[in-house]
Amino acid sequence: MALIYLLVVVAVLGLSILRFLCRPRPVKIPIKDRHVFITGGSSGIGLALAHRAASAGSRVSILARSVSKLEEAKEDIRNATGVEVAVYSADVRNMEAVRSAIEAAGPIDVLICNQGVYISGELVDVDMNDIKFMLDVNVVGTFHLIKAALPKMKEGSGGSDLPKSIGIISSQAGQIGIYGYAAYSASKFALRGLAEALQQEVISDNIHVSLITPPYTETPGIVEEKKRRPKITNKLAQYSPVMKAEDVAEKVLNGIESGDFIVSCSFIGHILSISTAGLSPQRSYIMAFIELVGISFTRFVGLCYLWICYGIVAKYQSKHLKNSTSTKVAPKKNA
Ligand SMILES: NC(=O)c1ccc[n+]([C@@H]2O[C@H](COP(=O)([O-])OP(=O)(O)OC[C@H]3O[C@@H](n4cnc5c(N)ncnc54)[C@H](OP(=O)(O)O)[C@@H]3O)[C@@H](O)[C@H]2O)c1
Repeated sequence: MALIYLLVVVAVLGLSILRFLCRPRPVKIPIKDRHVFITGGSSGIGLALAHRAASAGSRVSILARSVSKLEEAKEDIRNATGVEVAVYSADVRNMEAVRSAIEAAGPIDVLICNQGVYISGELVDVDMNDIKFMLDVNVVGTFHLIKAALPKMKEGSGGSDLPKSIGIISSQAGQIGIYGYAAYSASKFALRGLAEALQQEVISDNIHVSLITPPYTETPGIVEEKKRRPKITNKLAQYSPVMKAEDVAEKVLNGIESGDFIVSCSFIGHILSISTAGLSPQRSYIMAFIELVGISFTRFVGLCYLWICYGIVAKYQSKHLKNSTSTKVAPKKNA
């Protein structure tokens, strides 16, 4: 009895300390009647986000390159929700084009940097131009968007002191390196550094950053990527359940509205986020408590996952090596 009493006292004391420590402070970010600007909003996760934000009563703008895909998305959202979204055609790699689109769209309350490209392949085979392309769209493009939108976001919109948000779509591949995604993972890891540093810089402007880490999601983009995905990457992908874009969009908007810094979209995503929490901001003392208690367990789960990964890689590579050695020695035999 005394032991239970002691444990309760320690837990209450621990939670009170965490409540005092957790930074930034909890926040609620409304999206109804507010301007939500979504890049890559003509396809996949971005399109699902635009649908959901429009249904929630936001004023929605979407940006992508292809005008025809943007018009298709606009019609699709109009038919489903009755809401007219604004569309902007620009390549995020072009700072001037991004600046013009953001100026034309007007002050933004919630900026969601979702555009992204992924080309998988063993690094030794991936063309350097493809690597630069991924870094340009995923990383430099995100810098362009934030640099273009931030000055007006910092000014406040018409005296409103409602909190604002910058949502950055990373990936689970931005939390762990995955075979076949060296360049893509690098681009998504980079976004974490950007998000963590930016949050400190904009906290006093009442701007809140969310770093979103979706798992594999059914989208037109992933269908294309699958066509050249290495065999080992495909085998590893079997351990990551695939989500629907609509379900990811729901988690993303809920996470942004709750001001969460890391937004995980699935159970495995939560385990991953706990084991890679590091020094990332944490607003919720309950989540901080779960991280503290769960970290050894999630590290153990991580070690089991790595054991499986390295097992698959070793098995495939030894088989592959054996095959290539037997092809090389074959001519000798015939001689
Ligand atoms: N699907 C997944 O399994 C998954 C998993 C984790 C994270 N993610 C991340 O989630 C985000 C969305 O992925 P998705 O699968 O929904 O992709 P998607 O279906 O391929 O859609 C990508 C969107 O980005 C736009 N876009 C691409 N390059 C652009 C550029 N240079 N400038 C402006 N817009 C550009 C595309 O339109 P245009 O081509 O017309 O420009 C399209 O609207 C990406 O950041 C991706 O890395 C996806």
